[in-house]
Amino acid sequence: MTDRYGVIGHPIGHSKSPVIHRLFAAQTGEDLSYEAFDVPPEALESRLRAFAGEGLRGLNVTVPHKEQVARLVDQLTDRAHLAGAVNTVTIAVDGRLDGDNTDGVGLLTDLATNLEVQLEDARILVLGAGGATRGIIPALLGSGPRDLVVANRTLERARALASHFERLGAIAACRFDELAGRRFDLVINATSAGLQGGVPPFPASMLTPETVCYDLSYAMADTPFVAWARSHGVQHAHQGWGMLVEQAAEAFFIWRGVRPDTQPVRAKLP
Ligand code: ATR
Repeated sequence: MTDRYGVIGHPIGHSKSPVIHRLFAAQTGEDLSYEAFDVPPEALESRLRAFAGEGLRGLNVTVPHKEQVARLVDQLTDRAHLAGAVNTVTIAVDGRLDGDNTDGVGLLTDLATNLEVQLEDARILVLGAGGATRGIIPALLGSGPRDLVVANRTLERARALASHFERLGAIAACRFDELAGRRFDLVINATSAGLQGGVPPFPASMLTPETVCYDLSYAMADTPFVAWARSHGVQHAHQGWGMLVEQAAEAFFIWRGVRPDTQPVRAKLP
């Protein structure tokens, strides 16, 4: 029988997860279907439980549900617990829900393997201190950076995030204006400002032509952050398409025990 999987979010129409997972299934010969489900926040808890009864075997979770799903599942992996966010749910035959988070490993694979960015001993800056940042900090700290700085419009939020993760490694918090004149090897945009079409007042003096800029967001054209980085002479500015495919591959592996080849799938996206 064909196993059912899907992605939940609100809105969900833009999601590329169905395309990606169907390509993985075709490539690996796994017998599965994959659908997109629009689940509004008020229906999340009841829908999550209902999916098990409808024969779903697993779900990906996207905006705005990642943190709430972490509170609703029966069990969390260490990395999902640390992140306080779930992007992959496995549904057992008895209906038990296991939550995991593959965003961090997806980002690391894209950076280190696909883009060949040196993370060990690197000076890394993460812009933003919301849910997206929480998902990637454990993986970034595990890669052995020289410095890891989280900068945010609201300083208190960056400070709270830094103290939450400090037992995993050194992590500093600051405001955007405190970045002026500092230099970073890798700058990751994890703010949601691009969704409103803008770039917050990041000081361009923190960039060198060699700085790698990475936007967790992705779009058909350059995201505002990628366009901003390029306009300041950055040669290597990337959108998050690779991370999207890699986190999906990790979820596919958790569900099916088979690791798809991500390159042909990545090549079909912008
Ligand atoms: P997500 O799950 O996408 O991380 P979130 O938890 O709401 O969403 O976090 C959004 C992040 O983007 C926060 O760091 C937010 O900054 P604040 O903590 O100061 O709110 C940041 N952000 C969103 N819009 C922004 C803007 N216009 N300028 C600067 N930062 C912005």
